[in-house]
Order: sequence, then structure tokens, then C-alpha cells
Amino acid sequence: MSMPIAILASGNGSNAQAIMDKISAGILDARVCLVACNRPGAGVLERARRANIPHTLLDHALWPDRTSYDAALADAFKKSGAEYIVLAGYMRLLTAGFLQAFEGRVLNIHPALLPSFPGLHGGADALAYGVTLSGCTVHFVEEAVDSGPIIIQAATPVKAGETLDCLMTRVHALEHRIYPQALQWLAQGRISKKGRLTHLAPSDVKHAPRGDDSLIWPPLEEHF
Ligand code: GRF
Repeated sequence: MSMPIAILASGNGSNAQAIMDKISAGILDARVCLVACNRPGAGVLERARRANIPHTLLDHALWPDRTSYDAALADAFKKSGAEYIVLAGYMRLLTAGFLQAFEGRVLNIHPALLPSFPGLHGGADALAYGVTLSGCTVHFVEEAVDSGPIIIQAATPVKAGETLDCLMTRVHALEHRIYPQALQWLAQGRISKKGRLTHLAPSDVKHAPRGDDSLIWPPLEEHF
């Protein structure tokens, strides 16, 4: 049985697209029960529509506070039958109530190497700081911002004088590989947690060829 997931996003939805594409290609053993978005006109809604996936706009501006908004979100996700909630560019903080309702079952992708540069502008902050390696992180979500146990990270060199756009293009391409891979490991029941640490159970799946100068750990398996 494929793993039922819901995607929660605010924007363009390229990560949602990468996940939907890997599912359609038969590489990720999951199904998207619902795509929810809090911003009218966000690209992710159109992507879900084109992929024929149930989607809903829950415009946060129409709720009086975060608690009631998150209760509506949780209700929609419960009704959808989703087991995991996949944040893919969701630009709001989730309340404790929401996280309790889906304890240990909310994932996020962050465009920097956590725990460095949490927050809304992780990629820009890393570049401005002058790091020589940046990247992205898939992690479980806990109440403190960008703080939960890490599943996989990908690092890429920051080249001399490069612009944020240029760096983020590479980071996004890595995101599109590591997020579906992390979800596939979950779908296979291979991720366990002990406190802050996650453990990936080994398998005999071949590793993907290393095609560039990025470092991804744990290593991607073939097709990702
Ligand atoms: C990604 O960079 C992700 O790391 C961050 O928000 C961005 C979403 O991009 N959380 P997209 O909407 O998936 O294209």
C-alpha cells in the first residue's frame, strides 16, 4: 500500500512537483491525498490541478488567528486520510496544536544546512554570511523553527562571487532529489528516530551515481 501524504505549500510548488513526478514515475511509493495552500494564486495549486490531485486553498487571511486556521488545516488533512504532512515551501509557523495532531509525521525541507541559517531566508543568510558550502536539509518538524531531527542533507559549494539566484538554482535541484528520497525511505519504513537522531535502515538498493560536486548524505539510491 502506498504511503498517503498531504502537501502543504505557499508558493511555486517545485518541490511538490518533484514529489508528484517521482510518484507518477513509479519511483516513490506514495500518493498525494491533498495539496493545501494558504496563498491565493500560488503556483502549487495549478500544479496540483494539472496533476489531477485534490487541492484546496485555505487562505489564512480569512481566519481570525493561527489556532483556528491550523485547526481547519488539521481537519482537512485528517479527512484526506494523509499519514504524513509534507511542508514544501510553507511560509508560516505551525501551532503546537497542529504538531500534536500529527506528532512525528510532519516533514519540512529547508534551503540551508541546518542547524545553521534557520528561518525564512536560509539560503540568502548563508550566502551573506560567506559560507563556502551551503545546501538543503529534510527534517522532521518540531515546534521550534527548523529544529527537528534531520533525515538527509545535500551540500553544494558556493562559488566565488555567485549570485543568490545561481546558488538557489543548484540548491533547488538538490531539494528535488532529496525530498522524494526521504519520503521513499519513510514509505519503506526505514527511518527510525531516537531523540534527535534518525537512523536509516540499510537496504540492498544500489546507490545513485555521483554526477556532480555535491555531497549528499545518506547517499541517494538509484532513480533519485
Ligand atoms: C524551497 O527552497 C524550500 O527549501 C523552502 O521553500 C522553497 C519552496 O520552493 N522551504 P518551491 O515552492 O517548492 O519551489
